[in-house]
Amino acid sequence: MSHIRRLAHLAAHLGAGDAPSSIGGEQGAAPTAADDGAGPSLSAAACAAASRGGEWHQQCFAFEPGRLLLGQVAIVTGAGGGIGRAAAILFAHQGAHVVVSDLDAEKSQATVDFILNSSGSAISVPGDITDPAFPARLVRAAVDQFGMINILVNNAGFTWDGMAHKMGEKQWQAMLDVHCTAPFRLVQAAAPHMREAAKREMQAGGRPRPRCILNVSSVSGVHGSVGQLNYSTAKAGVVGFTKSLAREWGPFGIRCNCLTYGYINTRLVQSKDRGATIEVAGERVKLGIPQTDGAAAAMKQQIALGRVGAPEEAAGAMLLLASPYASYITGQSLEVTGGGWL
Ligand SMILES: NC(=O)c1ccc[n+]([C@@H]2O[C@H](COP(=O)([O-])OP(=O)(O)OC[C@H]3O[C@@H](n4cnc5c(N)ncnc54)[C@H](O)[C@@H]3O)[C@@H](O)[C@H]2O)c1
Repeated sequence: MSHIRRLAHLAAHLGAGDAPSSIGGEQGAAPTAADDGAGPSLSAAACAAASRGGEWHQQCFAFEPGRLLLGQVAIVTGAGGGIGRAAAILFAHQGAHVVVSDLDAEKSQATVDFILNSSGSAISVPGDITDPAFPARLVRAAVDQFGMINILVNNAGFTWDGMAHKMGEKQWQAMLDVHCTAPFRLVQAAAPHMREAAKREMQAGGRPRPRCILNVSSVSGVHGSVGQLNYSTAKAGVVGFTKSLAREWGPFGIRCNCLTYGYINTRLVQSKDRGATIEVAGERVKLGIPQTDGAAAAMKQQIALGRVGAPEEAAGAMLLLASPYASYITGQSLEVTGGGWL
């Protein structure tokens, strides 16, 4: 498949609105020279013009429209399905080398195959993100293969619902493990390649490369949700995690934001009757939500846009925050809800 056809294939998957503006033109070209994480340089004239307005030139790191993450290395957890898969594909489409990770090895590899077949760059590192040893393995694999880490997306997660008075401790702890403890371990494992690397670049008198962390929260964490005491507690924790890390790593130029999603059409919000499950510590947990008469219609009525979001739209918000256009945005929780919960 030619490069242009592969890009078109990716664009078709992502939807027409995400098609690169210049397929077949210069910006559709494969990553080349400045494939070092900083991307190709804007022209000196462009930077000088930008700097006339003040200090903005310091943020004038280089990127090509349509190839916003050119040469950057992104780890995406939970990228075998749903939002994570859409983000991995979108990031690859924008020129990133993607480290795809998921509990489900087959799905993880399927995401990688899709990216490779579309002329992108990716590897699969499957595993359970709650295994204490796994985050270090994931980081090592990323650095061995691609040499650095620019973007870390803590996306892997699931729900294990139950009413508070009946909830078991295992059920409670599982949510804290996957949504809070696993990202904590991953951030610690990545610190030498993100925080310390940025520190070295700054001590050498340079500007640190673009680096950021994206975490995934939920409206359940902000507004609460019946049957989700465990999940909403963990997702609220993600917001505090994000803001604290933004403060700690901001001085090194590392941004940290979170996406607070409403209803995104993945197996997490589909009918429980579909039978999707996930295995947690030897136990099969049913995924999805119970369907009651009129529940879906009532839910859509509360969303300003009147519909559930697509995984590709959720991924689009991740790209927004990972992109150079968000270079002055950190410590934020962006609600991606279609105007629900206003
Ligand atoms: N879909 C929504 O409406 C919605 C709303 C708010 C937040 N979220 C959050 O978005 C994130 C992605 O969920 P999704 O909706 O795409 O669901 P999904 O089930 O389609 O995808 C989640 C992926 O995470 C993986 N995963 C789960 N536990 C894992 C573990 N221990 N180790 C490694 N991988 C693991 C799963 O295998 C799956 O591929 C989750 O953190 C979820 O809580 C989703």
